[in-house]
Amino acid sequence: MTRRNGYMISDLTGVESLEADTIKGLSSNPKYLFSKYFYDDIGSTIFQEISKMPEYYLTRKELEIFSQQNEVITDCLLSGNQHFDLIELGSGDGSKTKILLKSILDRNISFKFIPVDISAKANQELDILLGNELPSLNLEPLTGDFFNLSEYGTEYRNSNKVIMFLGSNIGNFTLDETDLFLTKLSEFCRKGDKVLIGFDLKKSPEIIMNAYDDPHGITKRFNLNYLARLNREIGTDFNLSMFEHHTAYNPLSGYVRSYLVSNRDQIIEIGTSGEKISFSRWEPVLMELSRKFDLATIERLAFNHGFKVIKHFTDNEGWFADSLWIRK
Ligand code: AVJ
Repeated sequence: MTRRNGYMISDLTGVESLEADTIKGLSSNPKYLFSKYFYDDIGSTIFQEISKMPEYYLTRKELEIFSQQNEVITDCLLSGNQHFDLIELGSGDGSKTKILLKSILDRNISFKFIPVDISAKANQELDILLGNELPSLNLEPLTGDFFNLSEYGTEYRNSNKVIMFLGSNIGNFTLDETDLFLTKLSEFCRKGDKVLIGFDLKKSPEIIMNAYDDPHGITKRFNLNYLARLNREIGTDFNLSMFEHHTAYNPLSGYVRSYLVSNRDQIIEIGTSGEKISFSRWEPVLMELSRKFDLATIERLAFNHGFKVIKHFTDNEGWFADSLWIRK
Protein backbone atom coordinates (compact mmCIF):
# COMPACT_ATOMS: atom_id res chain seq x y z
CA MET A 1 0.00 0.00 0.00
CA THR A 2 1.15 3.53 -0.68
CA ARG A 3 0.02 6.73 0.90
CA ARG A 4 -1.83 9.24 -1.26
CA ASN A 5 -3.67 12.32 0.06
CA GLY A 6 -3.61 10.79 3.50
CA TYR A 7 -5.25 7.60 2.30
CA MET A 8 -3.54 4.29 1.68
CA ILE A 9 -4.14 3.08 -1.83
CA SER A 10 -3.40 -0.57 -2.43
CA ASP A 11 -1.85 -1.49 -5.74
CA LEU A 12 -4.37 -4.28 -5.79
CA THR A 13 -7.20 -1.86 -6.49
CA GLY A 14 -5.42 -0.65 -9.62
CA VAL A 15 -6.62 -1.22 -13.17
CA GLU A 16 -3.79 -3.62 -13.89
CA SER A 17 -5.06 -6.28 -11.54
CA LEU A 18 -8.69 -5.64 -12.45
CA GLU A 19 -7.65 -6.57 -15.97
CA ALA A 20 -5.53 -9.55 -14.93
CA ASP A 21 -8.17 -10.86 -12.53
CA THR A 22 -10.90 -10.43 -15.14
CA ILE A 23 -8.95 -12.38 -17.75
CA LYS A 24 -8.17 -15.06 -15.17
CA GLY A 25 -11.81 -15.46 -14.12
CA LEU A 26 -13.34 -15.31 -17.60
CA SER A 27 -10.78 -17.78 -19.00
CA SER A 28 -11.72 -20.33 -16.34
CA ASN A 29 -14.30 -23.03 -16.71
CA PRO A 30 -16.82 -22.32 -15.26
CA LYS A 31 -16.35 -18.55 -15.66
CA TYR A 32 -16.30 -16.33 -12.59
CA LEU A 33 -15.48 -12.75 -11.56
CA PHE A 34 -13.88 -11.55 -8.29
CA SER A 35 -16.58 -10.06 -6.06
CA LYS A 36 -14.28 -7.42 -4.52
CA TYR A 37 -14.52 -5.46 -7.80
CA PHE A 38 -18.26 -4.89 -7.30
CA TYR A 39 -17.33 -1.93 -5.14
CA ASP A 40 -16.22 0.84 -7.42
CA ASP A 41 -17.77 4.17 -6.43
CA ILE A 42 -21.01 3.42 -8.31
CA GLY A 43 -21.14 -0.17 -6.98
CA SER A 44 -20.66 1.04 -3.39
CA THR A 45 -23.56 3.45 -3.88
CA ILE A 46 -25.78 0.70 -5.31
CA PHE A 47 -24.87 -1.52 -2.36
CA GLN A 48 -26.07 1.25 -0.03
CA GLU A 49 -29.39 1.14 -1.90
CA ILE A 50 -29.51 -2.65 -1.41
CA SER A 51 -28.90 -2.28 2.29
CA LYS A 52 -31.90 0.07 2.57
CA MET A 53 -34.37 -2.31 0.86
CA PRO A 54 -36.82 -4.01 3.27
CA GLU A 55 -35.95 -7.42 1.73
CA TYR A 56 -32.24 -7.07 2.55
CA TYR A 57 -32.58 -7.84 6.25
CA LEU A 58 -28.84 -8.23 6.95
CA THR A 59 -27.97 -4.57 7.55
CA ARG A 60 -31.15 -3.97 9.58
CA LYS A 61 -30.60 -7.01 11.79
CA GLU A 62 -26.98 -6.16 12.47
CA LEU A 63 -27.96 -2.57 13.25
CA GLU A 64 -30.56 -3.95 15.70
CA ILE A 65 -27.83 -6.00 17.42
CA PHE A 66 -25.56 -2.97 17.68
CA SER A 67 -28.22 -0.59 18.93
CA GLN A 68 -29.93 -2.94 21.41
CA GLN A 69 -26.78 -4.56 22.82
CA ASN A 70 -24.44 -1.65 22.47
CA GLU A 71 -23.36 -1.43 26.11
CA VAL A 72 -22.73 -5.17 26.52
CA ILE A 73 -20.79 -5.34 23.26
CA THR A 74 -18.67 -2.38 24.33
CA ASP A 75 -18.00 -4.01 27.73
CA CYS A 76 -16.86 -7.20 26.04
CA LEU A 77 -14.65 -5.46 23.45
CA LEU A 78 -12.64 -3.46 25.96
CA SER A 79 -10.10 -4.94 28.29
CA GLY A 80 -9.43 -2.48 31.08
CA ASN A 81 -8.34 1.03 30.19
CA GLN A 82 -5.59 0.06 27.79
CA HIS A 83 -5.16 2.02 24.57
CA PHE A 84 -6.15 -0.02 21.54
CA ASP A 85 -6.59 0.13 17.79
CA LEU A 86 -10.05 -0.60 16.43
CA ILE A 87 -9.66 -1.85 12.87
CA GLU A 88 -12.71 -2.34 10.69
CA LEU A 89 -12.26 -4.35 7.50
CA GLY A 90 -14.70 -3.43 4.70
CA SER A 91 -16.14 -0.49 6.61
CA GLY A 92 -18.44 0.86 3.85
CA ASP A 93 -20.59 3.72 5.17
CA GLY A 94 -19.88 2.85 8.82
CA SER A 95 -23.46 3.29 10.06
CA LYS A 96 -23.24 0.34 12.46
CA THR A 97 -19.81 1.19 13.77
CA LYS A 98 -20.83 4.75 14.64
CA ILE A 99 -22.99 3.45 17.51
CA LEU A 100 -20.06 1.55 18.93
CA LEU A 101 -17.58 4.41 18.45
CA LYS A 102 -19.86 6.72 20.43
CA SER A 103 -20.09 4.41 23.41
CA ILE A 104 -16.31 3.82 23.50
CA LEU A 105 -15.73 7.59 23.35
CA ASP A 106 -18.24 8.04 26.20
CA ARG A 107 -16.05 5.85 28.38
CA ASN A 108 -13.00 8.03 27.81
CA ILE A 109 -10.83 5.18 26.65
CA SER A 110 -7.95 6.06 24.34
CA PHE A 111 -8.27 4.36 20.96
CA LYS A 112 -7.68 4.87 17.27
CA PHE A 113 -10.26 3.88 14.65
CA ILE A 114 -8.84 2.49 11.40
CA PRO A 115 -11.55 1.79 8.80
CA VAL A 116 -10.23 -0.16 5.79
CA ASP A 117 -12.26 -0.13 2.58
CA ILE A 118 -11.60 -0.84 -1.07
CA SER A 119 -13.66 2.19 -2.14
CA ALA A 120 -11.84 5.52 -1.75
CA LYS A 121 -15.17 7.33 -2.06
CA ALA A 122 -16.75 5.32 0.78
CA ASN A 123 -13.70 6.13 2.93
CA GLN A 124 -13.78 9.85 2.16
CA GLU A 125 -17.50 10.03 2.98
CA LEU A 126 -16.91 8.14 6.22
CA ASP A 127 -14.03 10.48 7.07
CA ILE A 128 -16.27 13.53 6.60
CA LEU A 129 -19.25 11.98 8.43
CA LEU A 130 -17.22 10.91 11.47
CA GLY A 131 -15.22 14.16 11.45
CA ASN A 132 -18.51 16.05 11.79
CA GLU A 133 -20.33 13.78 14.19
CA LEU A 134 -17.47 12.59 16.38
CA PRO A 135 -14.83 15.35 16.21
CA SER A 136 -12.81 13.91 19.11
CA LEU A 137 -12.36 10.57 17.32
CA ASN A 138 -8.79 9.61 16.43
CA LEU A 139 -9.37 8.41 12.86
CA GLU A 140 -7.05 6.94 10.22
CA PRO A 141 -8.89 5.54 7.17
CA LEU A 142 -7.04 3.18 4.81
CA THR A 143 -8.07 2.41 1.25
CA GLY A 144 -7.17 -1.02 -0.04
CA ASP A 145 -7.91 -4.72 -0.16
CA PHE A 146 -8.40 -5.87 3.42
CA PHE A 147 -7.30 -9.39 2.51
CA ASN A 148 -3.72 -8.13 2.67
CA LEU A 149 -3.52 -7.81 6.42
CA SER A 150 0.21 -8.42 6.31
CA GLU A 151 0.69 -5.08 4.51
CA TYR A 152 -0.52 -3.10 7.50
CA GLY A 153 2.98 -3.25 8.89
CA THR A 154 4.26 -3.53 12.40
CA GLU A 155 2.41 -0.43 13.59
CA TYR A 156 -0.85 -2.35 13.88
CA ARG A 157 0.62 -5.82 14.28
CA ASN A 158 2.20 -4.90 17.61
CA SER A 159 -0.67 -2.96 19.16
CA ASN A 160 -3.62 -4.09 21.27
CA LYS A 161 -6.39 -4.48 18.79
CA VAL A 162 -9.96 -5.27 18.09
CA ILE A 163 -10.67 -6.19 14.48
CA MET A 164 -14.19 -5.98 13.14
CA PHE A 165 -15.39 -7.65 9.97
CA LEU A 166 -19.10 -6.96 9.87
CA GLY A 167 -22.06 -7.30 7.52
CA SER A 168 -21.42 -10.96 6.64
CA ASN A 169 -18.67 -9.88 4.27
CA ILE A 170 -17.01 -13.17 5.28
CA GLY A 171 -19.83 -14.91 3.40
CA ASN A 172 -18.26 -13.79 0.10
CA PHE A 173 -15.38 -16.22 0.57
CA THR A 174 -15.07 -19.78 -0.73
CA LEU A 175 -14.28 -22.42 1.91
CA ASP A 176 -10.56 -22.14 1.08
CA GLU A 177 -10.59 -18.34 1.16
CA THR A 178 -12.37 -18.42 4.53
CA ASP A 179 -9.57 -20.59 5.93
CA LEU A 180 -6.87 -18.42 4.38
CA PHE A 181 -8.47 -15.22 5.65
CA LEU A 182 -8.88 -16.55 9.20
CA THR A 183 -5.31 -17.90 9.14
CA LYS A 184 -3.99 -14.45 8.16
CA LEU A 185 -6.24 -12.79 10.73
CA SER A 186 -4.98 -15.12 13.44
CA GLU A 187 -1.34 -14.44 12.46
CA PHE A 188 -1.99 -10.69 12.49
CA CYS A 189 -3.39 -10.88 16.05
CA ARG A 190 -1.49 -11.09 19.30
CA LYS A 191 -2.72 -13.15 22.25
CA GLY A 192 -5.67 -11.33 23.84
CA ASP A 193 -6.63 -9.38 20.68
CA LYS A 194 -10.30 -9.68 19.82
CA VAL A 195 -12.23 -10.03 16.60
CA LEU A 196 -15.92 -9.31 16.01
CA ILE A 197 -17.25 -10.99 12.87
CA GLY A 198 -20.75 -10.62 11.40
CA PHE A 199 -22.27 -13.86 10.08
CA ASP A 200 -25.61 -14.15 8.32
CA LEU A 201 -27.33 -17.27 9.66
CA LYS A 202 -29.27 -20.01 7.89
CA LYS A 203 -33.00 -19.31 7.86
CA SER A 204 -36.07 -19.82 5.66
CA PRO A 205 -34.79 -20.10 2.07
CA GLU A 206 -37.65 -17.85 0.94
CA ILE A 207 -36.43 -14.99 3.11
CA ILE A 208 -32.88 -15.45 1.84
CA MET A 209 -33.97 -15.55 -1.80
CA ASN A 210 -36.00 -12.33 -1.45
CA ALA A 211 -32.91 -10.57 -0.11
CA TYR A 212 -30.75 -11.59 -3.08
CA ASP A 213 -33.32 -11.57 -5.88
CA ASP A 214 -35.25 -8.43 -5.06
CA PRO A 215 -38.42 -7.27 -6.88
CA HIS A 216 -37.00 -3.73 -7.35
CA GLY A 217 -34.18 -4.95 -9.57
CA ILE A 218 -31.51 -3.26 -7.46
CA THR A 219 -29.46 -6.45 -7.04
CA LYS A 220 -29.63 -6.97 -10.80
CA ARG A 221 -28.36 -3.41 -11.31
CA PHE A 222 -25.57 -4.11 -8.78
CA ASN A 223 -24.47 -7.13 -10.85
CA LEU A 224 -24.74 -5.41 -14.24
CA ASN A 225 -22.72 -2.45 -12.92
CA TYR A 226 -19.79 -4.88 -12.68
CA LEU A 227 -19.87 -5.32 -16.47
CA ALA A 228 -20.34 -1.56 -16.91
CA ARG A 229 -17.28 -1.03 -14.72
CA LEU A 230 -15.26 -3.38 -16.94
CA ASN A 231 -16.46 -1.39 -19.97
CA ARG A 232 -15.36 1.85 -18.28
CA GLU A 233 -12.04 0.70 -16.90
CA ILE A 234 -10.62 -2.02 -19.12
CA GLY A 235 -12.42 -1.21 -22.36
CA THR A 236 -14.58 -4.32 -22.66
CA ASP A 237 -17.58 -4.13 -24.99
CA PHE A 238 -20.25 -5.83 -22.85
CA ASN A 239 -23.83 -5.15 -23.92
CA LEU A 240 -25.67 -5.36 -20.60
CA SER A 241 -28.93 -6.51 -22.19
CA MET A 242 -27.20 -9.69 -23.34
CA PHE A 243 -26.87 -10.98 -19.76
CA GLU A 244 -29.58 -12.19 -17.37
CA HIS A 245 -29.23 -12.04 -13.61
CA HIS A 246 -29.96 -15.28 -11.72
CA THR A 247 -29.66 -16.18 -8.03
CA ALA A 248 -29.80 -19.59 -6.32
CA TYR A 249 -29.64 -20.70 -2.67
CA ASN A 250 -28.38 -24.12 -1.62
CA PRO A 251 -29.70 -24.79 1.91
CA LEU A 252 -27.26 -27.67 2.34
CA SER A 253 -24.05 -25.70 1.81
CA GLY A 254 -25.60 -22.40 2.91
CA TYR A 255 -24.23 -20.69 -0.20
CA VAL A 256 -26.21 -18.13 -2.19
CA ARG A 257 -24.68 -17.94 -5.66
CA SER A 258 -25.43 -15.13 -8.08
CA TYR A 259 -24.78 -15.38 -11.79
CA LEU A 260 -24.94 -13.38 -14.97
CA VAL A 261 -26.02 -15.71 -17.79
CA SER A 262 -25.19 -14.91 -21.41
CA ASN A 263 -28.41 -15.05 -23.42
CA ARG A 264 -26.61 -15.63 -26.74
CA ASP A 265 -23.34 -16.81 -28.29
CA GLN A 266 -21.05 -13.79 -28.16
CA ILE A 267 -17.42 -12.72 -28.15
CA ILE A 268 -16.23 -9.95 -25.82
CA GLU A 269 -13.00 -8.08 -26.46
CA ILE A 270 -10.97 -6.59 -23.62
CA GLY A 271 -9.90 -3.26 -25.13
CA THR A 272 -6.80 -2.72 -23.01
CA SER A 273 -5.24 -6.10 -23.85
CA GLY A 274 -6.89 -7.20 -27.09
CA GLU A 275 -7.84 -10.51 -25.44
CA LYS A 276 -11.07 -12.12 -26.70
CA ILE A 277 -13.45 -14.10 -24.50
CA SER A 278 -16.22 -16.19 -25.98
CA PHE A 279 -19.51 -16.93 -24.25
CA SER A 280 -21.86 -19.61 -25.45
CA ARG A 281 -25.61 -19.20 -25.22
CA TRP A 282 -26.82 -19.68 -21.57
CA GLU A 283 -23.27 -19.90 -20.22
CA PRO A 284 -23.18 -18.53 -16.65
CA VAL A 285 -20.58 -16.30 -14.99
CA LEU A 286 -20.44 -16.84 -11.21
CA MET A 287 -20.49 -13.32 -9.76
CA GLU A 288 -20.75 -13.72 -6.01
CA LEU A 289 -21.06 -16.09 -3.07
CA SER A 290 -23.02 -15.08 0.04
CA ARG A 291 -22.65 -17.87 2.55
CA LYS A 292 -25.13 -18.49 5.39
CA PHE A 293 -23.75 -20.06 8.56
CA ASP A 294 -24.91 -21.93 11.65
CA LEU A 295 -23.48 -21.39 15.13
CA ALA A 296 -21.74 -24.79 15.20
CA THR A 297 -19.84 -23.90 12.01
CA ILE A 298 -18.86 -20.51 13.44
CA GLU A 299 -17.51 -22.17 16.59
CA ARG A 300 -15.54 -24.67 14.54
CA LEU A 301 -14.02 -21.85 12.45
CA ALA A 302 -12.96 -19.98 15.61
CA PHE A 303 -11.46 -23.08 17.24
CA ASN A 304 -9.60 -24.17 14.10
CA HIS A 305 -7.86 -20.79 13.82
CA GLY A 306 -6.68 -20.30 17.39
CA PHE A 307 -9.60 -18.25 18.72
CA LYS A 308 -12.00 -18.80 21.60
CA VAL A 309 -15.62 -17.66 21.23
CA ILE A 310 -16.51 -15.10 23.91
CA LYS A 311 -20.13 -14.62 22.86
CA HIS A 312 -22.48 -14.66 19.88
CA PHE A 313 -24.60 -11.51 19.78
CA THR A 314 -27.78 -12.29 17.83
CA ASP A 315 -30.92 -10.34 16.91
CA ASN A 316 -34.33 -11.20 18.38
CA GLU A 317 -35.25 -13.55 15.53
CA GLY A 318 -31.88 -15.30 15.39
CA TRP A 319 -31.26 -14.29 11.78
CA PHE A 320 -27.82 -12.73 12.17
CA ALA A 321 -24.90 -13.13 14.58
CA ASP A 322 -22.00 -10.88 15.49
CA SER A 323 -19.57 -13.32 17.02
CA LEU A 324 -16.87 -12.07 19.37
CA TRP A 325 -13.67 -14.11 19.57
CA ILE A 326 -10.44 -13.73 21.53
CA ARG A 327 -7.05 -14.85 20.24
CA LYS A 328 -5.69 -17.64 22.45
C1 AVJ B 1 -21.73 -6.86 1.30
C2 AVJ B 1 -20.93 -8.99 0.72
C3 AVJ B 1 -22.29 -8.74 2.65
O1 AVJ B 1 -23.24 -10.83 0.20
O2 AVJ B 1 -24.91 -10.03 1.31
C4 AVJ B 1 -25.82 -7.93 -1.32
C5 AVJ B 1 -23.26 -8.12 -0.96
N1 AVJ B 1 -24.69 -8.86 -2.87
N2 AVJ B 1 -26.66 -8.29 -2.30
C6 AVJ B 1 -23.88 -9.89 0.67
C7 AVJ B 1 -24.56 -8.29 -1.70
C8 AVJ B 1 -25.98 -8.84 -3.25
C9 AVJ B 1 -23.33 -8.48 0.49
N3 AVJ B 1 -22.07 -8.27 1.26
